[in-house]
Formats: sequence, C-alpha cells, structure tokens
Amino acid sequence: MKAKLTLHKEFSIGETDKRLFGSFIEHLGRAVYTGIYEPGHPDADGSGFRNDVASLVKELNVSVIRYPGGNFVSGYNWENGVGPIEQRPMRLDLAWGTKESNRFGTNEFAAWAKKVNAEVMMAVNLGTQGADAARNLVEYCNFPGGSFYSDLRRSHGIDKPHGIKLWCLGNEMDGPWQICSRTADEYGRAAVEAAKVMKWTDPSIELVACGSSFSGMPTFGDWERTVLDHLYDHADHISLHTYFANRDNDVPNFLARSLEMDRFIKTVAGICDLVKVKKNSKKTLHLSFDEWNVWYHSNEADKKIEKWTEAPPLLEDIYTMADALVAGCMLITLLKNADRVKIACLAQLVNVIAPIMTEKGGGSWRQTIFYPFMDVSRYGRGTVLRCPVTVDKYDSKEFCDVPYLEAVGVHNPEKNELTIFAVNRNLNEAIQLEAEMSGFGDIRIIEHRVLQNSDLDACNSVSQEKVKPVVHTAGTAEGGKIEENQLTVSLPPASWNVIRLVLV
Ligand code: AHR
Repeated sequence: MKAKLTLHKEFSIGETDKRLFGSFIEHLGRAVYTGIYEPGHPDADGSGFRNDVASLVKELNVSVIRYPGGNFVSGYNWENGVGPIEQRPMRLDLAWGTKESNRFGTNEFAAWAKKVNAEVMMAVNLGTQGADAARNLVEYCNFPGGSFYSDLRRSHGIDKPHGIKLWCLGNEMDGPWQICSRTADEYGRAAVEAAKVMKWTDPSIELVACGSSFSGMPTFGDWERTVLDHLYDHADHISLHTYFANRDNDVPNFLARSLEMDRFIKTVAGICDLVKVKKNSKKTLHLSFDEWNVWYHSNEADKKIEKWTEAPPLLEDIYTMADALVAGCMLITLLKNADRVKIACLAQLVNVIAPIMTEKGGGSWRQTIFYPFMDVSRYGRGTVLRCPVTVDKYDSKEFCDVPYLEAVGVHNPEKNELTIFAVNRNLNEAIQLEAEMSGFGDIRIIEHRVLQNSDLDACNSVSQEKVKPVVHTAGTAEGGKIEENQLTVSLPPASWNVIRLVLV
C-alpha cells in the first residue's frame, strides 16, 4: 500500500507545551506502595523510593505528574498524609475499597517528583472536602512561611515551599461512582469558591476544572457548558478523560478509536469557545487531557481482589502490541491538537494501567506502551506541523473512513530535528510512504525506530521483552532514503514508527 504526506516548515499547528508529556500517580493498587515507594527494597534510596523505578520514569522523560487521584482524591484528607509517619492514621479508601496507611503523602510525593525531574500537578478534594481544605493545602505547599499551614510544613522539615503551579479542582465530579459526585451546577458553584480562595492564597497557580469523565457520559456537553458558565473566568484548563478497550477483539475498530478522541477534543474546544463568546471573554481556555490510556485487561481480575487490604494488585493491565499501537495513535492525536491541549497525562505511570511494572521486592520492567510514550516525549517537543496524508481508508464496526496511516510531524528548531511519528493501521500490508518536505533545507535521516510484532497479543514481562523498538539506519527499505527532500520509507504492517531527521 502507498501513502503520501506533506510537511512544510511554515505550516504549523502550534508549539507543544512541555506539560503534554505528563503522567499520573494515584493512591491506587500498587502505584505508590511497592511501585514508586518500597522502603526495604534492595534498590530503594534512603527515602524508600525505588531507584530502578525512578530510572525508568526518567527514561520516559515525564514532564508533569498528577497526584494523588483520581477517584481516591475525592475522599482523601491531605492532612492525614503529612507530619511524622508513625503518627499518620490508617484510613479506609472508599473509592477503591482498600486501606490507606498514609505512610506516603504530599511531601514524599513532591520529593519523589523532584527525583524524577517532573513537575507536580496536585488535585484537591472537592468530594468530602471543599474550599477550606483546598486553600489550606495551597498554603501548606506554596506559602513561604509565617502562617499556620506554611509553618506546619516547616515544622515537618520542609523549609522551602514546594511551589506547585498546577492544581486540579477535584476529579470526575460528574460520575456517580465518585465520592460525593455533584450536578454541574453544584460542582460549578463549589469549584468557583475553591478556585477563588486557592488563587487568593497563591495568584500564580493554574487551575484545571473537571470536564466530563468521558465523552459517553449522558451529561457530556451540558456538563462542560454549565460548569464553564460558573468557572470560565477562574479556571485555566478543563479536563478530558478517555480509556479505550478492545473487548470484542476487533483490532481494526480498536485502532480507529483515536478518531473518537480527536472528536472529543474538538467538541470540548468548541464548547469552551461558545462560553467564551457568551461571556465576551478575551481568554481562551486550554484543555487538560489528564487521563488517557487503554484499560480493560484487568477488569475481571479486579472483581476478585479482597476488599480492605493495603496496596492490592488493582488495575494491573498487561499491555499487548495492539495496545501500543492504540497508545501511539492517541499520542499522535494529542500532538495534532497541541494548539489547544496543553496538558496530558498517560494514566497511569507505575503498576496501575501503567507503562512501568514492578515486582514487590523484585525487578521492574517496561510494558509495550512504554515505547510510544518515550518516543513522543523525547522527540515530539517543538512545533507540530500540519500533515496532510493521502492514503486508502477503511470502515470498521463503529468508524467510517479510517485512514490506514496516522501521522504527524514535529520540528524542533533548537535541535535542528524533524521527526515523523506514524502508525500503520494496516494489519497485513506494509505502507510505502513518500514524504515531501519543504522549507527545511537539506535533510538527513538519523534513524527509523520501529515497534512491531506480528503477534498483536505479544506482551512484555519481567523476564522477556517481546515488544521493543528496532532501529533502522538509512539505506535499507525500512531505514529509508531521501532524494531532493523527498523521503521514501517502508512502514511494516501494524507498526509504530518514529522517523528521525536532522536538518543540515
Ligand atoms: O485511572 C483510574 C481511574 O479512572 C481514576 O481514578 C479515575 O479518575 C478514572 O475513572
């Protein structure tokens, strides 16, 4: 199969925000305990943070990490997670039916985030708590000293404020599963009052309002419009969440799901702009896609988990080659919407629907989805270019006109690099790609990284990496060649591709 794409240096969609390459750690399952934090593990540092896991997080080059939830945050009293560890209470986590020891809390997370070179994105509890606890947490984290909560932080041994810039006003407050969920008007009112006192405490912070839990919610659309009627002037971003599944083992349909993600983004952007017009506002609201991933493999196993245990193995999806392709399509979709989506978090980071897995007391390893994220996070920063593609299309069970090739280009002027990310959705045929590149001067191929396995169910494990990138260099069909600024390269069937080019 043949495909053509065109890239021109001047035809840009927008710049990537560094927070587009984020992830998420929730107090859920083994994300924290025996994930990032395991005192006594042979590879743990003096604070109990696992060095092997920290190295893998750094490999992913994660820019921002959302914490502490997710559903967990709507029942979390942050005050339980600070101060002397031995005095912290064991609490019931009603979101996931587990026990929370609070041995790890705000200060431990801020220290860990620093260790992995990531910024913190903190969520406040707008379920069981509200404006008062939220402003106290901002004061605890960000005020230098000389007030009750900033001095409390200092008494806990943290002299300098954490300086957390990004705050979520609750989590999925439209969902009936959420602890103290609300109607859009109830949430909008509560969130406005929380937003005011949080920004009065620290005017430099940015706030993320809760959008719908996913685009299939019965209130989707009305929720955003009503919430923004209240919050437009106070919030800086609105959240979107999406998890995809392949329950009926229909891979072509599964691979097309990113079209739904694109539609979701454009619809929410449209609603934001409608409210902007209504309010006669000069401000454009940005989107925070702060939960995205594949999630379904662990659904049955999770039903068998014993309740009220500490750090049980919840949501431990083992990802396949097909899942990595879907993650790749989702990443390309985020890049293509970089003008509007400024924050995105792969949910989650360790053990819980995660690119990184650990064994308690043992090793750690990279799942299949690790690689597309790492590639985009390493090579996808810069100016995203419009990328018109000519290729055959297919119809699947739920989607029409699905292009066999999903692709985008990113120009990084600082590094003098141009990178093409591409997924070949054709399960049987390679795509012979011709890419016409203008305005860049002379171009050379650095490498073509390919993630492929003819078994779409292939997974990785602690002992074997069946799905990992193979690197091709120029000259071969897979490595590609450039003649007069036209790249020709072969993209294997059902593959994730990163074509790295240098401008000379
Ligand atoms: O990421 C797992 C859960 O998915 C989060 O806790 C919640 O926000 C979403 O429903």
